[in-house]
Amino acid sequence: MSSLPRTRVTVLHGVNLDQLGRRDPAIYGSLTLEQLEQRIGGFAAELGLRVQFFQSNHEGAFVEQLHRADEMADGILLNPGAWTHYSWAIRDALEIAALPAVEVHLSDVEAREEWRRTSVIRELCVATVSGKGPDGYREALVRLKEELTS
Ligand code: DQA
Repeated sequence: MSSLPRTRVTVLHGVNLDQLGRRDPAIYGSLTLEQLEQRIGGFAAELGLRVQFFQSNHEGAFVEQLHRADEMADGILLNPGAWTHYSWAIRDALEIAALPAVEVHLSDVEAREEWRRTSVIRELCVATVSGKGPDGYREALVRLKEELTS
């Protein structure tokens, strides 16, 4: 029996990521979220993946999007912003989603303040890509594709 290829990826941006372009460009680069999403869309097209995007500054909305993720996607690429470091609610929702997930950060969270070194979602993700700017999203999609096609 043949199964459909798993190519649908939901890209979830968390708190304050709608402010890209305005946040410190030395840390986050100068792309706006819209420009970043265009970039990610280009990477996905090259890789034969279909992406759709979501951003929220509301933790409950982000949690509910994770609850719905399995209806619309085969894998998750997520950058929860500061929630990464402390939101056990998002961690639990990611576990409920039960899809392969990759964690991405534009900045190098390991090289910044101590509190950014904690990630409550890392143990649920097949990979973490950090500090590579927009290109990190390409690497994350490649990693997710490997997982979806294995
Ligand atoms: C971030 C890193 C987080 O520590 C920070 O709170 C963000 C963005 C990143 O992409 O580098 O909002 O996730």
